[in-house]
Amino acid sequence: MAIYEINGGKPLNGSVTISGAKNAAVAILPAALLVSGKCRIENVPDISDVRILLDILDGMGADIQCPEPHVVEIDCTAVHCTEPNADLVREMRASYYLMGALLGRFGKAHVALPGGCNFASRPIDQHIKGFLALGADVDETEDYVALQPGPDGLQGSRFSLDMASVGATVNIMIAATLLPGQTIIENAAKEPHIVDLANFLNTMGARISGAGTDTVKIRGVNSLKGGTYTIIPDQIEAGTYLAAVTATGGNVLVQNVIPKHLECITTKLQEMGARIIPFDDAVRIISDRRLRQATVKTRPYPGFPTDMQAQVCVCMALASGTSRLTESVYETRFFGYCTELESMGAKISISSKTATVVGVDHLEGATVSAHDLRAGAALVIAGLAAKGTTRVQNIHFVERGYENLIGKLTALGADIRRIEE
Ligand code: EPU
Repeated sequence: MAIYEINGGKPLNGSVTISGAKNAAVAILPAALLVSGKCRIENVPDISDVRILLDILDGMGADIQCPEPHVVEIDCTAVHCTEPNADLVREMRASYYLMGALLGRFGKAHVALPGGCNFASRPIDQHIKGFLALGADVDETEDYVALQPGPDGLQGSRFSLDMASVGATVNIMIAATLLPGQTIIENAAKEPHIVDLANFLNTMGARISGAGTDTVKIRGVNSLKGGTYTIIPDQIEAGTYLAAVTATGGNVLVQNVIPKHLECITTKLQEMGARIIPFDDAVRIISDRRLRQATVKTRPYPGFPTDMQAQVCVCMALASGTSRLTESVYETRFFGYCTELESMGAKISISSKTATVVGVDHLEGATVSAHDLRAGAALVIAGLAAKGTTRVQNIHFVERGYENLIGKLTALGADIRRIEE
């Protein structure tokens, strides 16, 4: 098992380049199953979730080439398999997009239930609701979901999600792209990667409008052709570096970002005392004073992202005064890291959906364990800011979603190494 060892207390300075968005990549790669011909996808992050997904698609018969770093050429024309490797599917969350992709392409699918970060109960009833609305027969067991056409066949349909689920919006967009008729998803999620998926599919010939609003319309087309597409930068990876600089102090240019996507994060970091200077495709962050307390409530986009909850909590732990952090997407997400932060000296009490964080002067290094991807990122930030040495265990969670974390942080002046134990 590998760990990160961090000697903290060093400010971060220099520049860091953000990779392509994980949550866009894990939607776009399965969506390539719908395309007849070769898709060249650029700015693909080199992270374990992407590698697992490529293994799954390879096992299904996709022709996959990686001609240069961060570029994937994928041709799924020859794929006939509708039952992806269950062991690989269980290794990650977003493998559930194979359900929508296979339903859309073949009208049937047999996909194991996904694994991945289980920081909360993560039901997929809204995905199923969407598949049923499209006319599918759904057989769901504890292990898998099997889909096939219902008695009236598969066709577009209008329905409303009970909550603005990212995963259900993505899955139904993918499933509906090649179905006859029009699909209208109401109360759709609006995250940047929903728009990115729509842009990818439209580039390949789909007719999707409204992505990024509450109502997404998909007019079915007969086929998609190949093409080239570049994935957007990762909003949460960028936010994580911004939070790291806020907590440790320093002056960093965060490059290859869409500043608009970061506003929901930078507004709060500014309130806490960081200075932010946005450019066209970069953001400079300067943190050189004691942080101030803040009140943050996570919400779906364009609100403050739940995927930044843990990282901002570290900033709060080091701020003067008492901060309040309310989670409204996944209630149990605090349990993945708050106890670990407390072992480093943070003062956090949790009541229902809200963590009350009483700022302390400094954190102390400790041995801590990541329980999910973003919790792990937060513990790395805490280690960078803390006095002494921090050892972060269970780093496979972190490597799911952060490309070259050690290289990027080391270039900013951090003292962090990956050790095989
Ligand atoms: N929900 C249901 N039923 C469903 C789907 C969702 O009750 O069928 C609930 C969830 O339990 C949650 C809320 O709806 O309370 C929102 O869940 P959503 O479906 O939006 O989340 P997701 O698609 O499972 C994606 C990201 C997560 C991110 C959330 C929220 C991907 C692959 N994952 O998950 O990313 O936290 O949206 O923004 O896109 C991460 O990157 O670390 C990560 C966990």
